[in-house]
Amino acid sequence: MDHSVRKSFYLKTFGCQMNVYDSERMTEALAREGYAETAELESADLVILNTCHIREKAAEKVYSDLGRIRDIKDARGRHGKNTVIAVAGCVAQAEGAEITARQPAVDLVIGPQSYHRLPELIKRIADERKSIVETEFPGDEKFAKLTARRRVSSPSAFLTVQEGCDKFCSFCVVPYTRGGEFSRPVAKIEAEARELVRAGAREIVLLGQNVNAYHGEGAGGRAASLADLIRHLAGIDGLERLRYMTSHPRDMSDDLIAAHAEIPQLMPFLHLPVQSGSDRILAAMNRKHTATEYIDVIGRVRAARPDIALSSDFIVGFPGETDQDAEATIDLIEKIGFAQAYSFKYSPRPGTPAAIRSLQIPEELKTERLLRLQAVLEGQQVAFNCRSIGGVVPVLFERQGRQAGEFVGRTPYLQLVHAAGAGDLVGSTANVAVTEARRMSLSGVIAAA
Ligand code: SAH
Ligand code: SF4
Ligand code: F3S
Repeated sequence: MDHSVRKSFYLKTFGCQMNVYDSERMTEALAREGYAETAELESADLVILNTCHIREKAAEKVYSDLGRIRDIKDARGRHGKNTVIAVAGCVAQAEGAEITARQPAVDLVIGPQSYHRLPELIKRIADERKSIVETEFPGDEKFAKLTARRRVSSPSAFLTVQEGCDKFCSFCVVPYTRGGEFSRPVAKIEAEARELVRAGAREIVLLGQNVNAYHGEGAGGRAASLADLIRHLAGIDGLERLRYMTSHPRDMSDDLIAAHAEIPQLMPFLHLPVQSGSDRILAAMNRKHTATEYIDVIGRVRAARPDIALSSDFIVGFPGETDQDAEATIDLIEKIGFAQAYSFKYSPRPGTPAAIRSLQIPEELKTERLLRLQAVLEGQQVAFNCRSIGGVVPVLFERQGRQAGEFVGRTPYLQLVHAAGAGDLVGSTANVAVTEARRMSLSGVIAAA
């Protein structure tokens, strides 16, 4: 191979924001090794799939992609070009060597805690010409080693502050794929946040599988809560907005709720998954909260920040779910009123307790319940967005739109906004008079300063 030509890599990301964050870090690590990113699969010397194991569909998509990539690898091989195929993320962690058994063209299987070793492992594959499976949990080594300069591709940047989960909801793979809860120290997070702001970030979204369980090392070695961390980061010059996700209802502490009333940089938006409105199902899910407790938490959050926009996750068709249980979920949705939400059909995942329970719900019934639930949620989303019409909202512009002179940004409530503007608005915040609302976005005109 011609070593004067820079090697290229193609990286595809599935799943949650934490995977997006990890992909950004891998991209930075590879750039330091001289790799150039390419959007063209056929020309890549290294192909990485950063995968998600949360539902069956997400995991199976990886294998169909791998089949296609193997064909490309074979074709390139006939022209004397080598292609290294790497599978990263939660499927890598969950399935390990099963992946290379099922698709022998895969050279590297690398779990989320080992990304700092990516460049070294790729070199080893080239030297030893054998596949490697690396799915250890070396604790915080990953963050310690991935500390180089951050780049930002958008004024809104992700920053992982906590990983893993100790909650063990009976349907969920995350405690197995990401391991136990681990919080990064405040000082490390602050340094990275400053780096992101220096590189152009105006908003930082603090990420964790269970982010409000954050308890990292703070000043004087004492544990800091997520609220402490947010208060601390709010002091960074040039950082206009802070958000966090995803939270668990049990960890919605008083100081975090108070932060929503007291810290102007903390945006009035909360994604708080509830999964179901039936206490019987919540108990079977091992969610550790009831519907009433959830409604109570929301009441306290709304008392602190009356205009807060609420978001949630729902699962329909959990084993044993009756029509009555499904109705209880609709009741909860109607009681609360969500600005947006994600909803899923229950997907049995290997190794989780719920997967082997009796009374699995037939697919058609799941579909029926999902459509009914989504109709209610979509109605609420449209109503929430329509309430913005006629008002003026500060919009942080994140990118150019499809039309010339159009920019796309977000309101404090996370609504997407399209507006026309002169000059380059990306990275700046402007007041927008909202003229139109749809389910997924708003349109408006930039109001005079
Ligand atoms: N840590 C977050 C996110 C977990 S995964 C949390 O606690 O909410 C994101 C969402 O995927 C979950 O909230 C849940 O609604 C959904 N999910 C997880 N496992 C699932 C499964 N087996 N089938 C269907 N949806 C699932
Ligand atoms: Fe999964 Fe439950 Fe942990 Fe969320 S809280 S990551 S749903 S086990
Ligand atoms: Fe998927 Fe892993 Fe995130 S399973 S949702 S990529 S933590």
